[in-house]
Amino acid sequence: MKKHIITLPGDGIGPEIMNSAHELLKAVGEKYNHEFTAESKDIGGIAIDKHNDPLPLETIEACESADAILLGAVGGPKWTDSKIRPEQGLLKIRKHFNLFANLRPVTIFDSLEASSPLKQSIVHGSDLMIVRELTGGLYFGQPSERRDGGQSVVDTLTYTYGEIERIVRIAFDTAMTRRKHLTSVDKANVLESSRMWREIVNTVSKEYPEVTVEHELVDAAAMKLITNPSYFDVIVTENLFGDILSDEASVITGSLGVLPSASLSENGLGLFEPIHGSAPDIAGENIANPIGMMLSVGMMLKYSFGLHEESAAIEKAVNQVLADGFKTADLKIDGAVTLSTAEMTEKIISCL
Ligand code: NAD
Ligand code: IPM
Ligand code: MN
Repeated sequence: MKKHIITLPGDGIGPEIMNSAHELLKAVGEKYNHEFTAESKDIGGIAIDKHNDPLPLETIEACESADAILLGAVGGPKWTDSKIRPEQGLLKIRKHFNLFANLRPVTIFDSLEASSPLKQSIVHGSDLMIVRELTGGLYFGQPSERRDGGQSVVDTLTYTYGEIERIVRIAFDTAMTRRKHLTSVDKANVLESSRMWREIVNTVSKEYPEVTVEHELVDAAAMKLITNPSYFDVIVTENLFGDILSDEASVITGSLGVLPSASLSENGLGLFEPIHGSAPDIAGENIANPIGMMLSVGMMLKYSFGLHEESAAIEKAVNQVLADGFKTADLKIDGAVTLSTAEMTEKIISCL
């Protein structure tokens, strides 16, 4: 198979973990006889510095002719007070390519059970998928502005029926491939948008009689996610709730550094990135955990290229390395040897 991938390393630890992705693609290509070509483009803070634009046209055009997109992370303290923000580049690329379906699997590798700050008895058996709406809601609603000379501010949460319906369908389809249990998370006791969300979930559920559906308020869901994570199978929720709950879910696995994601559209182009950010506090030290990025490559192979065996091999290699007693600095595993980003990458590749 021949595939062309645009890589967007971005800022902070982004370039460090993108190196891991490149190494992994090379290794998978050699082992399974695929030709993966990769071309790097700018996004985020580095793109602001070089082009005064967090998502330059050149990057968009390159992505348009790509088979898939891999992203590291954007943002950092350097641009905190800048008028143009790195994060705008990320939001813009999601919107431009209509990447409305963000799949965030939370799988706990056996050897990570002990690394969670939660009791092992609580995290044992956790395996859930957060389906996050990614191109609507509070992130994109207009108006979003300061008023009255900066004394008041407005952000708007908007959704159309169609925007909710399509993400809800993805969630039901996902549930059908898993344990057939869907939890829709909202704030229907307060928000009108949530009340419409519930109606749509109930309507679509009639087409999926095998799936058991529950509605949960986001505050209670946040509590249950860490007190009883194995209760959940598929969670579907709006953009901001999904952002918050997925970082919370990383506590189950012991580190934000191990969780991957896929952002998918209806026309087939996908963007794959770890769920964490640019981690400015550890950038440049070669200690970032590359697992979230490497599993994102695995998701790309599976969702964009249909390479299920190769994708499973990556997951298996990650599990193997952790089970063999190796970790990165962010993981708390008693007795395990701490590796650098580059060493962890090599170790995982050697287990393929
Ligand atoms: P962050 O996710 O970058 O970091 C939170 C904590 O997790 C930090 O202590 C960091 O060191 C740690 N961490 C994250 N990834 C890690 C990894 N791979 N290995 C080891 N430790 C890891 O969140 P933040 O500090 O709130 O945000 C920093 C910047 O990143 C901000 O500008 C934010 O907007 C941006 N951000 C970008 C993305 C993205 O590009 N998709 C996602 C989240 C945050
Ligand atoms: C994520 C990030 C982004 C989001 C930010 C950087 C815009 O937190 O990918 O989870 O909120 O979607
Ligand atoms: Mn986030």
